[in-house]
Amino acid sequence: EGNKLWGGRFVGDTDPIMEKFNASIAYDQRMWDADIRGSKAYVKALEKAKLVSTEEMEQILNGMDQIHEEWSKGIFVINPGDEDIHTANERRLKELIGAPAGKLHTGRSRNDQVVTDMRLWLRDAIITLTNNTLQLISTMVERAAAEIDVLFPGYTHMQRAQPIRWSHWILSHAVALSRDVERLQEIKRRVNVLPLGSGAIAGTPFDIDRELLQKELAFDGISLNSMDATGQRDFVVEFLFWASLCLTHLSKMAEDLMLYSTKEFSFVTLSDAYSTGSSLMPQKKNADSLELIRSKAGRVFGRSAGFMMTLKGLPSTYNKDLQEDKEAMFDCYDTVQAVLQVTTGVMSTLKINQSVMEAALSPDMLATDLAYFLVRKGVPFREAHGLSGKAVFAAESKNIALNQLTVEDLTAVSPLFGNDISSVWDYRSSVEQYSASGGTAKSSVAAQVEHLRTWLKKQ
Ligand code: ARG
Repeated sequence: EGNKLWGGRFVGDTDPIMEKFNASIAYDQRMWDADIRGSKAYVKALEKAKLVSTEEMEQILNGMDQIHEEWSKGIFVINPGDEDIHTANERRLKELIGAPAGKLHTGRSRNDQVVTDMRLWLRDAIITLTNNTLQLISTMVERAAAEIDVLFPGYTHMQRAQPIRWSHWILSHAVALSRDVERLQEIKRRVNVLPLGSGAIAGTPFDIDRELLQKELAFDGISLNSMDATGQRDFVVEFLFWASLCLTHLSKMAEDLMLYSTKEFSFVTLSDAYSTGSSLMPQKKNADSLELIRSKAGRVFGRSAGFMMTLKGLPSTYNKDLQEDKEAMFDCYDTVQAVLQVTTGVMSTLKINQSVMEAALSPDMLATDLAYFLVRKGVPFREAHGLSGKAVFAAESKNIALNQLTVEDLTAVSPLFGNDISSVWDYRSSVEQYSASGGTAKSSVAAQVEHLRTWLKKQ
């Protein structure tokens, strides 16, 4: 078939079903700008190697600028025969400038072209996602600062554990997200490596100045081995993994909020802006935003696992299986970006019900502090734990709260309990004991806020 880029050795036509099956233009057109940037850099290297004249280079650069304008105005016409973004742009270049267009692909393969485009695209995508994540973290940190005096029950195993600050909960999620930002920056370093100049597998036989390409495209490094450069997708896998982990973090936060927003808890009230109703039950206000945030980790992890399956056992170098990388990458990007934006919205509009949160604290959550009371009087912790447990049992047997036990009840458990025990039954002084770094005392939480504020400034 004459009009295909690779049609020379073919006599038979492509089955239309195969044509559609093979084409990636429907989704890889998103990389139109990266593809143009790559080609503009490449033609400069061709000119330096004297494979195109300066005039031909100018024609190609102008043609590419025109194509750029068509794409940005939304008037670029995709032809039925355009297999992918690379063939579409080259086909259009030929229509615009004629013969010199045929020189652009000298020494280049779609194998090095496609990974160059993807790396350029992903580099920009990572910058956007970094900013979205920082925005969310900053919203959370400022919220934690503003609501630092609010206490509520902390849970382990979803059972009432110890009183903590609400801000301590917020920051526990913000810290995980700050690691996600750092992880993404590390991935970016490995994404930002130039594969162009690798050809199809063997490299380039021409005087292509790869350092010039690196500079033109602002890559941090140059790929070391042409077979590796064209045949690996580690950078995509790392990104998919990153998306899975980041959304796993957000699914955990969404699940906590979901629970806190039920009538039974009523710790928080989700804004109407992020809730939906029921078509049948008029009273319903559903936390659909939180449910969707929670759900997307599954979708993104599926993409990541699916693409790993595609890679497993592939032979070296480029195989068409690798075309599967793009839908996974785009979908994960779109999904994470949407989740980050919605979560920021949820976290900046959420209302908390401080009195309900604090009323939900109960004296049994101070049983640990009761043991620490004895520890401070010299009782070994294991023994103190057992004695406090006995006090819990005594209160339960009498069907009263732990702090309703009389001094006599307590001294029956241990003579070290005395009148000074009343100091234990105060939630505020309880949390204030946890003042070592990382703890839930006001000073520790404030230090966490300051740490994250400083960290945010450095990003
Ligand atoms: N559309 C292809 C992809 O996304 C471009 C590379 C095709 N290369 C090839 N030799 N068939 O992977």
